[in-house]
Amino acid sequence: MEKLNGNKKLRVSVFISGRGTNLKSLINFSKNKSSTIKISLVISNNKKAKGLVFAKKNKIRFLIINYNNKKVAENKILLYLNKNKIDLICLAGFMKILTKRVLNRYKNKILNIHPSLLPKYKGLNTHKRVIVNKEKFTGCTVHLVNTKLDSGKIILQKKIRIFKKDNAKTLEKRVLKIENQLYPKAVKKFLFANF
Ligand code: GAR
Repeated sequence: MEKLNGNKKLRVSVFISGRGTNLKSLINFSKNKSSTIKISLVISNNKKAKGLVFAKKNKIRFLIINYNNKKVAENKILLYLNKNKIDLICLAGFMKILTKRVLNRYKNKILNIHPSLLPKYKGLNTHKRVIVNKEKFTGCTVHLVNTKLDSGKIILQKKIRIFKKDNAKTLEKRVLKIENQLYPKAVKKFLFANF
C-alpha cells in the first residue's frame, strides 16, 4: 500500500451480504481519532442485508448491486469504486466471488475475513466441519484476496480453543466476536507493514 501523506485518510469500501458485524467494527475503528481510514462506500449484493443499517446510521454512502448478471454487476462496482476514489476494499461476509477484472484493478488492495484458521477450512460451513473433525482449535483469518478462494497472503489470525460443549452455533458466535476485534487490527497492520 502506498504511504499516506499528511492528514489524508485512505478511502475504504466495505462489501457485505448480511448481518454486517464486521462492517460495524470497521466503522467504529474508522471513527478513532488516530485512524487513517475512512469508510467511504458500503456495497451489498443483498438489498435486505441487515448490515446496511450501520451504513445508514453513520451516513455512509451505500450501493446495492443486483447480481443477476455478474459482468453488469462488476461494471457497476468498478464504476462506483472509481467514482468514490476507493483505495482499499474490505470484504466482510460478502458472499460473491470477484472476478479477475476487479482483482486486477485492486491488486493487493482487497482484504477478506474468513472464519477459520486458514489454510484450513477454506470455503463455506467452516464451523460445522471443524466440529465434525473434532478440532481442538479454530479461529479467524484476515488475508489478501487473490484468484484462488481463501488463499491469499495471511495478514493476521486469531486462534481460540474449542470446548467439549461447543457446537457449530456456539463456535460461530465465539469466532464472530474475535473476528470483530481482528479485522481493524489487521487493517492497521496491513497499512503499516509492507505486504
Ligand atoms: C463472518 O463470519 C465472516 O467471516 C464470514 O461471514 C460472516 C459475516 O458476518 N465470511 C465468510 O464466510 C467468507 N467466506 P458479518 O456480516 O456479521 O460481518
